Amino acid sequence: MSSILIKNAEIITMNTAEEIFFGDLYIVDDRIAEIGQNLAHKADKVVDASGKTIIPGFIQTHIHLCQTLFRGQADDLELLDWLKQKIWPLEASHDEESIYYSAMLGIGELLQSGTTTVVDMETVNHTEFAFQAISESGIRALAGKVMMDKGEEVPVPLRENTLKSIQQSVDLLEKWHNHDNGRIQYAFCPRFVVSCTEELLTSVRDLSAQYNVRVHTHASENANEILLVERELGMRNVVYLDSIGLANERLILAHCVWLDEEERKIIKERGVKVSHCPGSNLKLASGVAEIPSLLDQQAFVSLGADGAPCNNNLDMFNEMRLAAIIQKPVHGPTAMDARTVFRMATIGGAKAVGMEKEIGSLEPGKKADLAILNLNDFHVYPSFGIDTISRIVYSATRADVETTIVNGKIVMENRKLKTVDKEMVL
Ligand code: GUN
Ligand code: FE
Repeated sequence: MSSILIKNAEIITMNTAEEIFFGDLYIVDDRIAEIGQNLAHKADKVVDASGKTIIPGFIQTHIHLCQTLFRGQADDLELLDWLKQKIWPLEASHDEESIYYSAMLGIGELLQSGTTTVVDMETVNHTEFAFQAISESGIRALAGKVMMDKGEEVPVPLRENTLKSIQQSVDLLEKWHNHDNGRIQYAFCPRFVVSCTEELLTSVRDLSAQYNVRVHTHASENANEILLVERELGMRNVVYLDSIGLANERLILAHCVWLDEEERKIIKERGVKVSHCPGSNLKLASGVAEIPSLLDQQAFVSLGADGAPCNNNLDMFNEMRLAAIIQKPVHGPTAMDARTVFRMATIGGAKAVGMEKEIGSLEPGKKADLAILNLNDFHVYPSFGIDTISRIVYSATRADVETTIVNGKIVMENRKLKTVDKEMVL
């Protein structure tokens, strides 16, 4: 048994009542055992968190760890040119080692900025080595190899045979799904409708049901992408995915910038999960997604940074701030307040991955996935009565993250925590 007792913190629970407590949080093994005042348990590590804030670890529902090494590529291209000219050739050039280091670099950045769970889309080849990095790092992840069995412009190393793509995905699933007591899960990743045959998508639908795993794809990100799909299939992305039977509660759809009414209705009725990527949507000139109206219709919306070259970093603080501010010029200053955005970054992400009973909030019995922030250093002065969630969304940065804990294990310590003499608290 291992245990950590964190004392005297402000604890932002994001439980159903969204309560904020001042007190202690006690971790035993991989779970939160107790939250309360003046807890006096024996613990392997006792941490004085006076003046600090504990938050649920962020959950990013759309990431490409394999693209971390390509940061800064194609800063001035839109989606399809960017994929063809830069990203696909670069993904094709990956080898086992570069995939591993790309994933490790991305995970380091994620953990340093308080993200404890990611939904990760890899590339066609060498995904095994990204799983290796995920496994070693301690981050929680739902990951899978990308699937793309269509498209003349796809470079040869990425062009897949349909059955081989499916077989390789199932082999990885059988090896990695539920690895390390469920910390690692498999998710099927057909890249987007443009690069997948109906045969492939139909198999993914059946396999996702058979194994009860998520399907993670891109949809309705960019006007030209939508045009391509409409020209070839006579339908919009989400309508097509629904016609195949893929639009269900296990589907995570990245972007959804340009949804029409019919697509919105499908997303709502089928319980599809939308992953909003505001930084990427701006940088690739894709557009500003209509998130307030999706939230109005009670759709599931969470956040993701996408790949490093779409955004330049994988930091959830940036995504939260962008998500909040880009709606303001269009819908007014209260369009998406800080609490709404913070909810999307935490419990919203947990719902997207179907783990809201396990992660996304700080409650006894849940997995101990959390970050300890010090909001009183550097640029953020003692609160002056300002709401902490507002401070986190609008002004915190990754430099304010001191410690990140996943599954009850300290996976990142940005600064040495002040440790209380055990005798004092017992
Ligand atoms: N659509 C298909 N592939 C990609 C990708 O790698 N990144 C983004 N942002 N959109 C995509
Ligand atoms: Fe993406």
